[in-house]
Amino acid sequence: MAFGAGIHFCLGSALARLEATAAIAEIMRRAPSLTSAGTPERIASPVLRGLRSQPVRLGALTAPNHPGR
Ligand code: HEM
Repeated sequence: MAFGAGIHFCLGSALARLEATAAIAEIMRRAPSLTSAGTPERIASPVLRGLRSQPVRLGALTAPNHPGR
């Protein structure tokens, strides 16, 4: 649903999914003990479903894979 439907279905959906997968995997690798630290707040919209905020506790961090980038 996030990428629309029919003839105008998002042309960048494959790239967006790849980027999101890479970003989430890297966050989980860097912050393996990431946990929720509060109640999420939803976006108040009849057309968009999502979170405005979600407080988190990062915990111990590991080093980045690509220092300096
Ligand atoms: C999480 C990221 C993204 C979301 C949620 C998203 C969502 C959407 C949605 C809902 C539409 C349909 C709009 C409509 O029906 O009028 C759309 C269309 C489109 N998106 Fe994305 N998009 C994302 C990322 C991208 C990326 C990374 C690109 C390009 C690199 C891209 C390129 C396009 C293009 C060119 C269209 C127009 C397709 C058409 O009208 O035929 N999008 N997108």
